[in-house]
Amino acid sequence: MKTRTTVALLLASLACHAETPQQIRQTYATEAAGQQAGFTPSAKRGEAFFRQRFANNDKMPGCFSCHTDNPLNAGQHAVTGKNIRPLAVASNAERFSDPAKVEKWFGRNCKEVVGRACTPAEKADFVAYMSEVR
Ligand code: HEC
Repeated sequence: MKTRTTVALLLASLACHAETPQQIRQTYATEAAGQQAGFTPSAKRGEAFFRQRFANNDKMPGCFSCHTDNPLNAGQHAVTGKNIRPLAVASNAERFSDPAKVEKWFGRNCKEVVGRACTPAEKADFVAYMSEVR
């Protein structure tokens, strides 16, 4: 039931797309709290996740493989060499403003790098870090 409510909320937010990073973080945090009572997003955990090296993938072991060690900087795709604009909101005001885009890239990059979907808690922490890093 709770999951269904969250999915409905998420779909509603997908339909009207423009949101703030805070709203997007809140959607994931609410979903995470449904699985883990008292969950609060942590930029510190988000940073640790960003820096984590996942063993399953030599070519792109972590988020930093394309987004660099510093999310305030522009990145470069590890495979195609294409430029990637900074992930941090402080450097790129367009980040975490379109829930559909955020979901699409969490989906793609988590699967590729982590080898599974990211949890709502991981997403909330990640958005917290990208919103707060200066
Ligand atoms: C293989 C290269 C690559 C890796 C590794 C990678 N990303 Fe990305 N990421 C991209 C590209 C390409 C885009 C889309 C282009 C853009 O938005 O600049 C993107 C965009 C995103 C976005 C969209 C943000 C927004 O609001 O615009 C999120 C979220 C994201 N990545 C999260 C992650 C996470 C989490 C990891 C690690 C688990 C990760 N990425 C690892 C290439 C990568």
